[in-house]
Amino acid sequence: MTGKLVSAVTALAALLVGTVLAASEASSPLVGAAKCGGCHRAAYQAWRNSPHRKSNAGLPADKRNDPRCLRCHGGTDADTGSVQCESCHGEGKYYARRHVMKDRKLDRIVGLTDVTEKTCRRCHTGDAPTIRPFDWERSWSLISHGMDDKEKVADHE
Ligand code: HEC
Ligand code: HEC
Ligand code: HEC
Ligand code: HEC
Repeated sequence: MTGKLVSAVTALAALLVGTVLAASEASSPLVGAAKCGGCHRAAYQAWRNSPHRKSNAGLPADKRNDPRCLRCHGGTDADTGSVQCESCHGEGKYYARRHVMKDRKLDRIVGLTDVTEKTCRRCHTGDAPTIRPFDWERSWSLISHGMDDKEKVADHE
């Protein structure tokens, strides 16, 4: 009973957030890595040092806008291109706000996704040009990041 009420209220809140944002912002559902990085500095640094940041820039010049490649290598836009935060965590337009992010149910309702090995395998398929099959332990260790305790209480808005 209480559980149901809580989810109803949460869903309503999500709807309101959605409506207000939809009315006030441009149409792209992506906010870009720099925006996430304004609050998540450690994660942003880790990403900047990761191969994903160059996933578009690393393509031959004539392939950087090739739709066959963009699905996995991301676009050319400086903010929202490449394989960036939202390629794994989900499009951030509605959840990338402090009060939404602090509510672990609400942020998922409005777009934050749980990132698992399956997420990686959307792109790290058997077709990728590598002789090494995708290995979660090894790959995650190369790009690992998270939140430190300071970040959890810091106010960046
Ligand atoms: C205005 C600041 C702010 C922005 C912008 C922001 N976050 Fe957050 N994020 C937070 C806060 C605060 C938390 C909650 C930390 C806590 O209390 O544990 C959080 C939590 C998270 C979590 C864990 C939450 C959960 O429910 O599992 C993830 C993942 C995350 N953020 C990713 C992102 C991504 C990706 C972006 C960009 C699309 C982003 N954040 C933008 C402030 C922000
Ligand atoms: C299904 C997803 C997928 C598609 C589609 C895709 N790639 Fe990739 N590509 C990858 C992944 C994943 C890697 C990294 C492989 C590794 O090193 O483990 C990669 C790596 C590469 C590399 C090597 C990068 C480096 O810095 O070593 C090149 C070059 C490349 N891809 C070119 C292309 C081109 C050109 C296209 C379009 C014709 C394309 N890829 C389409 C997933 C994809
Ligand atoms: C290649 C996929 C990928 C990219 C790109 C990526 N992340 Fe993550 N992120 C993960 C995975 C996997 C985890 C660990 C599992 C989890 O906690 O969701 C994680 C964890 C996190 C956490 C900690 C969540 C928690 O509950 O403690 C935050 C915050 C976060 N990422 C923010 C970011 C930000 C900001 C960016 C971009 C600057 C980014 N991530 C880019 C895959 C990614
Ligand atoms: C949207 C597509 C996409 C997703 C999702 C993705 N990757 Fe990648 N990843 C790529 C591409 C493309 C490259 C090649 C970048 C380059 O070298 O130019 C790459 C390269 C890498 C590399 C460097 C090559 C290597 O194998 O040593 C690691 C490590 C990696 N990814 C780990 C991960 C992990 C872990 C996840 C899931 C949490 C993940 N990736 C999710 C597209 C993706």
